[in-house]
Amino acid sequence: MSIISNNLNKIKPSPTIAVTQKARELKAAGKDVIGLGAGEPDFDTPDNIKEAAIKAIRDGDTKYTAVDGTPVLKKAIVDKFKRENNLDYDLDQITVGAGGKHVIYNAMMATLNEGDEVIVPAPYWVSYPDMVLLAGGTPIILECDEKQGFKLSPSELDKAITPKTKWIILNSPSNPTGACYSESDILELSKILIKHSHVYILSDDIYEHVVYENFKFFTIAQIKELKGRVLTMNGVSKAYSMTGWRIGYAAGPKDIIKAIAKIQSQSTTNPSSISQAAAVEALNGKQDFIKERAKSFQERRDFVVSSLNQIEGIECLNPDGAFYVFPSCKALIGKKDPNGNVINNDTDFVKSLLEHSGIAVVQGSAFGLEGFFRISYATSMENLKKALDKIKNFCKELN
Ligand SMILES: Cc1ncc(COP(=O)(O)O)c(C=O)c1O
Repeated sequence: MSIISNNLNKIKPSPTIAVTQKARELKAAGKDVIGLGAGEPDFDTPDNIKEAAIKAIRDGDTKYTAVDGTPVLKKAIVDKFKRENNLDYDLDQITVGAGGKHVIYNAMMATLNEGDEVIVPAPYWVSYPDMVLLAGGTPIILECDEKQGFKLSPSELDKAITPKTKWIILNSPSNPTGACYSESDILELSKILIKHSHVYILSDDIYEHVVYENFKFFTIAQIKELKGRVLTMNGVSKAYSMTGWRIGYAAGPKDIIKAIAKIQSQSTTNPSSISQAAAVEALNGKQDFIKERAKSFQERRDFVVSSLNQIEGIECLNPDGAFYVFPSCKALIGKKDPNGNVINNDTDFVKSLLEHSGIAVVQGSAFGLEGFFRISYATSMENLKKALDKIKNFCKELN
């Protein structure tokens, strides 16, 4: 009998964290490596937020808090939803966890029974299917190909819904593709979801503030007929460069929020009191740097997309948000790398790219769609220029 739970056989370690780790190891061994695998902004947490955390420590704000968030933070979240999304919530419709990931995990654990289905459009954020599996549910993967801009079509959604469907997970802007659902995209999906009144919607809005040009962010809870069935997850990680602080939150139906608190009370208790104080400042404090940072992400996206599209064998869409692109390497499958090894799939491609050129990216199959790879451009222009040169030279050498 194994000491390890059978449940763990259902899942794999996060492949994106694995790539970052591999790049770190190669760097430590003296190799010149540029990591384009990480899912976090390269900017620092703003000073006013850091100061709020330091003040919290000095003021003795260092004890357990209410399990699913301090009243002050919940109020700041309620205000955020009103200010930015024109959504009204009461304090008991808000939950705070140790990162957005934790909140989604709690939501799955709190709601899924064996065999419940969760629709996950692919390419997906790597954690969704595994969280569903851990909670005893069945992920139903719906591939959304490049021709659809990697977005879910309403008719495919309609076909995939069964009496066992409990949730659909929507993520816009998307990790890994950067695809964003416009208001009219969401309206179309809503028509289907309004019909299926047993289905709940988990909207992962963590990249809300990383949108470009004139794209107007819209979230599905803004559809009145659906709001009572939507759990909107967001957090401070990406918008405020606070990935290490571990604060995520969600707003939604009271019964789900209460169930999440029950799980959290028997697992992690409250998220860090200090991080919560910092998150209050993040949400209530100045917001001007968010747009500036989005502008600099946009410059990088423009550079990365145009450079990739100049490489023979690579094709890349120009997404509206997040700090990722999801280029196709399908035209390079079947070629040989400089060691004479055949590139049979996207995993071979990224492995060979890392070994030969020291560029760490993540294979599309890790996100549920083969023949692609994900580049995170949350790194300096200097790094991106070097990296794109190296990718170009690597692709040229394939024959
Ligand atoms: C789509 C998506 N959702 C949720 C998260 C989780 O964010 P957090 O760091 O707040 O746990 C991430 C982080 O990479 C993400 O990409």
